[in-house]
Amino acid sequence: MPLFRSAGPHRLPRLDALVYGGDYNPEQWPEDIWAEDVALMRQAGVNLVSLGVFSWALLEPEPGVFDFGWLDRVFDLLAAGGIAVALATPTAAPPPWFARANPDSLPVTRDGRRLGAGSRQAICPSSPAFAEAAVRIAGKLAERYGHRDNLMLWHVFNEYMAPTGECYCEQSVQHFRHWLRDRYTNLDSLNEAWGTTFWGQRYGDWDEIDAPRTAPSAVNPAQRLDFARFTDAAWLECFRRERDAIRTHSPDIPVTTNFQDARCKGLNQWAWAAEVDVVSNGHYLVAEENENHIGLALAADLTRGVAAGGSWLLMEHSTSAVNWQERNIAKRPGEMARNSLAHFARGADGIMFFQWRASRFGQEKFHSAMLPHGGTDTRIWREVVELGATLAVLGEARGAQVAGDVAVVWDWESWWALELDWRPSADVRYVDQVRRWYEQLWRSHLTVDFVAPEAELGRYPLVVVPSLYLTTEAAAKNLRGYVEAGGTLVVSFFSGIVDENDAVVPGAVPGALRDLLGITIEEFLPLRAGERVTVAAVESGPGPGWSGTIWTDDLRLREAEPFAVYEDGPAAGKPAVTRNRVGAGTAWYVSTALDGPGLKALLDRIGAARPAFAGLPETVEVVRRVGAGAEYVTVINHGEHEATLPIAGVELVVGAEVPELVVPGGQVRVVRRTV
Ligand code: GAL
Repeated sequence: MPLFRSAGPHRLPRLDALVYGGDYNPEQWPEDIWAEDVALMRQAGVNLVSLGVFSWALLEPEPGVFDFGWLDRVFDLLAAGGIAVALATPTAAPPPWFARANPDSLPVTRDGRRLGAGSRQAICPSSPAFAEAAVRIAGKLAERYGHRDNLMLWHVFNEYMAPTGECYCEQSVQHFRHWLRDRYTNLDSLNEAWGTTFWGQRYGDWDEIDAPRTAPSAVNPAQRLDFARFTDAAWLECFRRERDAIRTHSPDIPVTTNFQDARCKGLNQWAWAAEVDVVSNGHYLVAEENENHIGLALAADLTRGVAAGGSWLLMEHSTSAVNWQERNIAKRPGEMARNSLAHFARGADGIMFFQWRASRFGQEKFHSAMLPHGGTDTRIWREVVELGATLAVLGEARGAQVAGDVAVVWDWESWWALELDWRPSADVRYVDQVRRWYEQLWRSHLTVDFVAPEAELGRYPLVVVPSLYLTTEAAAKNLRGYVEAGGTLVVSFFSGIVDENDAVVPGAVPGALRDLLGITIEEFLPLRAGERVTVAAVESGPGPGWSGTIWTDDLRLREAEPFAVYEDGPAAGKPAVTRNRVGAGTAWYVSTALDGPGLKALLDRIGAARPAFAGLPETVEVVRRVGAGAEYVTVINHGEHEATLPIAGVELVVGAEVPELVVPGGQVRVVRRTV
């Protein structure tokens, strides 16, 4: 599927190439630099820039007074240079006059502090003043630029809910009450869903309901979960309003907003994906982490999942260091290309950066850019030019679909619920648990498709469900159907516990998945900080085992058989890993956070999925994209030593027909083979 998938009458791919470019903020520079910018963009092979992301204060210097002259000139220069534009609505940074005129549009934190305006995203999503002003500027931009030849994409706002996006002001409370009335219709239903007989919270009037602000003790978890849903919905309304204002004037140009993959907890991206024409993402490495490319792979796979397996656009990443981590480690030579091509391998049809030219001033002046402070006589610039040339030859792979080997279930609502107060262990963090499984699948050279719990799973030989604490009936039914039809399911601890109201599924735990897993859990036995337990496989008898942390269960077998047992710890002698045959398939349960080698050994033992290429060094990443008549195999060598793979075809990066593929340490190769 091409990047610009059709979700209606829109979506015309205007670029016959992979996208390459970055955020372009010409307003930070004197006008005489703009022509040089365009010339250098051409030199680097840039074909798309994201324009105007934070330019509201310049475009509308006074309420209702617009100045588009400078943007007209930038558009003209870019058009003359053959460079397309992703035009942003600048609404993530309202002008100072807006906050001054509408102090009640500034967000209020959970503990009641109103935040200041001197940064960005200082917005209450329920502010009517913001809604009106945002729609006005979005509409004006669409009216003026919607028919420009080099306009390729609309980029609404910037990273919704980064960092949090919650607001507890009076306007939000009113909006929350409306949202609750729509959801529950009457107070009896709300009282029941929220379990308000607990701690005597029964509501007799809608106006008694508040946002779940900081209170002397833990706040009703169902209320908090609904507030998370409401906040997500409130921002989605903001997006829809701007998108629809744009479409009035510019119906043919696709609209996106840049997500933040697994870093953004607040947006239920499964729902948002249906509202955008193009899925786009911004990704930044946890630079200090060893093997940070595994986190990158996870983010890219998640974004592709959100794009329903289709192509997506990497709207931002960095050429080298960012400036907002504790220690901003610079990328080493070749790392930017490896990162960029890993995104490409995992379905990105465009690679963009924050930002084109490094800012001289402001909060992000120490952030790397395509054109560094040092100009063109720099390693980064040379690598940027080289990457542009590589992407140009890889353009033929555009639209090719990534061939996923296994599915991992991902769920935002379950994440929200899992991390509320007073869970059995604060050490169970959702992304950490997903990451544990993901990492071992990555080391096994298996490509992961992230899927929603209700997604069609039939084509996967293996489906992994990490800590799906909140499991709806529909999800449980879906997982059961998958196993009955012959699938292999692996579920990890603290799954199937509560329903969509954070109420324990009636009967023995784990209610929603009990029958499928063939077990009951008599008691959760979470571990102390740093505590390790030993897990031994039943079949191989006791001996040096795997270790588990964070969690164990007092687990009873029903239909399931034990696969591994605890040798020590609070669950000593009890099953640690079980399997249950259901219909034509098998459902496994893993009741602790196994260490990496243990998890990998278990996955090997389950053996349901096999990588396309066996026997590769762990540091070699291989991902396939399948297009019409050709398959593109990207091989990224994260190790220092040369790797040889039995892949024959046309290697596109260096440009040669190869009988087998040799990838030097630190390099990337992409082979086209005929299928
Ligand atoms: C992104 C943001 C950009 C820039 C970048 C720096 O999250 O969208 O505007 O701030 O981070 O890494």
